[in-house]
Order: sequence, then structure tokens, then C-alpha cells
Amino acid sequence: MTESFTPASVLVTGGAGFIGSNFIHHFLQTNPACRVINLDLLTYAGNLENLKGVEGDPRYEFVRGDICDSKLVAAILFREKIDAVIHFAAESHVDRSITGPEIFVRTNVLGTQVFLQVSTDEVYGSLGASGLFTETTPLAANSPYSASKAGADLLVRAYQETYGFPTLNTRCSNNYGPYQFPEKLIPLMIHNIIAEKPLPVYGDGLNVRDWLHVKDHSRAVEAVLKNGVPGGVYNVGGNNEWRNIDIVNLVCDMLDSKLGRSSGSNRALITFVKDRPGHDRRYAIDASKMRNDLGWEPFYTFERGIEETISWYLDNQEWVREVTSGAYRDYYEKMYGGR
Ligand code: DAU
Repeated sequence: MTESFTPASVLVTGGAGFIGSNFIHHFLQTNPACRVINLDLLTYAGNLENLKGVEGDPRYEFVRGDICDSKLVAAILFREKIDAVIHFAAESHVDRSITGPEIFVRTNVLGTQVFLQVSTDEVYGSLGASGLFTETTPLAANSPYSASKAGADLLVRAYQETYGFPTLNTRCSNNYGPYQFPEKLIPLMIHNIIAEKPLPVYGDGLNVRDWLHVKDHSRAVEAVLKNGVPGGVYNVGGNNEWRNIDIVNLVCDMLDSKLGRSSGSNRALITFVKDRPGHDRRYAIDASKMRNDLGWEPFYTFERGIEETISWYLDNQEWVREVTSGAYRDYYEKMYGGR
């Protein structure tokens, strides 16, 4: 393998979100000599509470701003002598894209004219009962969200082809772990179980997702940044397929014992609801390129990862209350006074 790329200064977009903030924690730990500038607009899913642990670190700086503001982005690139941009900023929730696609096109397509693009396996569409997505699977996005990510991936490709701009593109399966906004399946179920609210399972609950711990995803993005071949696409997955209903049952059972409730009582909260329109049936990633070319593979077993995640949400109920109430915005004003 050729020598790794060692940036001195990186710009992380969307660093206050779930995956971005986990990545910043990881990257500052594994790259002691690198500065990290976090550009985030702090929309509903962005939360500076996620970064409390690095706030005092002289290598870290937060800038509130919009990735579509090209003047601001250019100013940061020059001022901070940025060596690489790792682009997490995105509207990410499929259900929101169905009711309001415009913001997805603006943020995910117009906001992506860059860099190491952190994308999704959803750009490939849906699989039947067998088969895996590889890097050469044709794009066949089915929701406004995944279409906006596919559009961004194509812009990234065009920048590489047209301008010779060195780009990298990762496509990851479903992430879980700490700091995930409780609109996504796993934290929503944990949140509702604690509150003894109904657990909405879409359709027949038999849709399949391939789950990856966010820390393993952070390690994958770092590996691609340092050793990926410019112009390359890298699929990142957990080799960990689960039907939605099985995950929900698992979370119910684990929380029965953690909350001291009688066995089976949380499962009684499961409520099958109307299916998501255009609901992709199955995603599953072939991550052999990551393994063979970059030596990456997930560390977390799902048993350990889900256990830790449930415990994290139980221990961080205040965080959940704040993100769901919007109180974290006051925290931002207090900390940064509108900067
Ligand atoms: O595959 C990667 C993608 O994973 C990311 O690119 C997206 O940003 C991320 O949101 C996620 O998309 P999904 O649609 O797969 O994630 P979500 O957590 O919304 O749903 C997971 C599955 O659970 C999906 O089949 C829909 C189902 N579901 C979801 C929710 C929120 C339910 O049955 N009930 C629910 O309340």
C-alpha cells in the first residue's frame, strides 16, 4: 500500500449530527496532530451537546453556517488551510423526505460540490431476498431522500471526471449508536419503550436493514480518507442483516430486564402501522472492497453494540429530552452567543 494521507487540518460538515459528531470524537483521538473545523447549521438534528467532550480542545473549532453558502465554505478552506473535507451534512430521514422533499434537494444536492462524500446504500434502491449491493450496482434510488443522495454522489463523480478534483465516496448501511436522533428506528423504539408509548412498526415489519455501529463507520471513513484511491466508491456495511420486527423484539426484551418489567411486557406495545410509501424491502452491503483494499472490518458485534446503545440512552435521558424539546438551541445561544 502507498503511504497514507495525513491531513493537518480537516473540515467536517454536519459535525453536530449523529454520525458527524461520533466521527469528530473518533478522529481527534486517532489523529492527535490534526485540527478539526466543524461546519454545521444546527438544524433540528444537529446538537452541540454531542460535542461537549471536545469543546475545550484547542484542535477543535465550531463554525455555525450553511454548506450551501459557498463564500463561507471558501473562506474556511483558505483561512484554515483545509487539507480534506469530510461531508456528513445532510437531511437524512426518509419519512421527512416523503412529506417535504425540497430541503433534501437543497441540502443534499446543492450542498454537495465536494470531497469525501459520506453517502448511503439507499442510492442502490432495494434488494430481493438474496444478493448484496456492490460498488458497481446501478443507482436506483426510490425515495426523495435517497434520490437526493444519489444526485450528490453523481456530482461528486462529475467533479472528479470534469475537474480532476480528488473525491472519495462512501456508501454506508444503517448506523446505530449514541447521539442518534430519536426519529430513527432504534432510538425511537428505546425512547417509546421507556415512555411506555406504542412502538410503530411499518407494514409487516419484515423489511431488512444491515446494521453497523457508528464507531465502526467512523473508522471506515477515516480509512477511506487516508488510504482510499481518489475517484473511488467504497461500500461500508456491518454484514449484519436484521428484519425490523426482530430488532424491535430484541430491544423490547433487553429493556424488559433493564427496566425491571415483566418478560414480554414491552412487546405488548408493538403496533403495526401503515407502511412507508415506496418502502425499500431489503438493504445489504458487500463490504469486501473495504476489507480487501483497506483492511477495514467492523469491531462491534451487534449484541455488544445494541447493549451499549440501550444503556447509553438510559444513561442520557436528559439528552433525549433536550433534543426532543428543542432546548438544546438555548444551549447553543448560551455557548456561542449567536456566532
Ligand atoms: O441505509 C442507510 C440509511 O439508513 C441512511 O442513509 C438514512 O439516512 C437513515 O435514515 C436510514 O434509513 P432507513 O429508512 O433505513 O432508517 P429508519 O431508521 O428510518 O428505518 C429503519 C427501518 O425501520 C425501515 O425499514 C423503516 C422502519 N421503521 C422506521 C421507523 C422510524 C419502522 O418500522 N417504524 C418506525 O417508526
